[in-house]
Amino acid sequence: MLIFEDDLTPPARPQPTGLPPAAPRLQPATGALNFAGQGVSTPTWTPPAQPTRSAAAESDEAYKYRRVRVEDKRIINGKTDVNQLVPFKYKWAWDKYIAACANHWMPQEINMSRDIAQWKDPHALTEDERRIVKRNLGFFVTADSLAANNIVLGTYRQITAPECRQYLLRQAFEEAIHTHAYQYIVESLGLDEGEVFNAYHEIPSIRDKDEFLLPYIDVLADPNYRTGTLEADQTFLKSLIAFACLMEGLFFYVGFVQILALGRQNKMTGAAEQYQYILRDESMHCNFGIDMINQIKLEEPQLWTPAFRDEIRAMFHRAVELEYAYAEDTMPRGVLGLNAPMFKEYLRFIANRRAVQIGLDELFPGATNPFPWMAEMIDLKKEKNFFETRVIEYQTGGTLAWD
Ligand SMILES: [Fe+2]
Ligand SMILES: [Fe+2]
Repeated sequence: MLIFEDDLTPPARPQPTGLPPAAPRLQPATGALNFAGQGVSTPTWTPPAQPTRSAAAESDEAYKYRRVRVEDKRIINGKTDVNQLVPFKYKWAWDKYIAACANHWMPQEINMSRDIAQWKDPHALTEDERRIVKRNLGFFVTADSLAANNIVLGTYRQITAPECRQYLLRQAFEEAIHTHAYQYIVESLGLDEGEVFNAYHEIPSIRDKDEFLLPYIDVLADPNYRTGTLEADQTFLKSLIAFACLMEGLFFYVGFVQILALGRQNKMTGAAEQYQYILRDESMHCNFGIDMINQIKLEEPQLWTPAFRDEIRAMFHRAVELEYAYAEDTMPRGVLGLNAPMFKEYLRFIANRRAVQIGLDELFPGATNPFPWMAEMIDLKKEKNFFETRVIEYQTGGTLAWD
């Protein structure tokens, strides 16, 4: 059995990454951006006291040379060998990995020529419709990079269930495909790349959403961060909730509705089709994250304290406010039969759904869904010819060249 983490260094918690022990703490960072959080309390974390050699290391030794038993596997804080995918414990994670691979798609498979013609035609789209497209891309061209960084630099190394790691690897690639798709739309339409890619610095409604999210990435990307204490595990769970429920499960939805509403009116149908594929992927990301959250709650019930639940509710309220501000900014007037107040109701409806999915009560009782057609958009099969374009059943065999 391969062991990459033999104790040649001072005692440290077991590292399920298969990487060498972490370097001494430098600066918490995920890249150039390091906004301060605003609004709700931002995640704080202080390094836990290091366990003594005798307690932690000896118990790790016991797991190193033992065959993996299903009952020993855990989503976080597990000590079984993370290089052994089977025996399966979290079959739902493996099933989602298989389903995600079956949904494979690439942006350049979608014909953008009609969008290009419409974008060039001064009469095909109104100024408000163009604003929606540009704001949308301004948010999404960087949002999926944040999502990918969160997985690769933060979440992945704390997860000790190989089935979940397998899905996260697929998810990280899908985030790259989404960034590719948004870039492909920007390039196809000949938009000002500097303007679009800097929107997250320069457009307050976009920047505020990213500032809300970044502390939840930074805390996990700190090289000294480890799960294993009540505080550190709550920090981890909070970050998972921020990403699955509030980023992928809420912050994406004003944009998705807007572009899909354009497509329903036969405008920007190539972009709308790209978004439809992305929506399907994101829907699975969100559900996978929620499955992990609920499994961690089962395995670590001590984390779900009343104070912790209060903090999560405050995060939900803040996220709804931020996304509603984004809706107002992107739609200063009614457009496409949509207007900002409809989104207030929609965001409350979605927030309720996410809250209930992780075991909280509804935050906005009685909120209803003004866009019931969105539910059908998530299932591509039901809408196979909606945009009168061919939905590609992805065939890798047909595209392989061996010479
Ligand atoms: Fe994505
Ligand atoms: Fe995602």
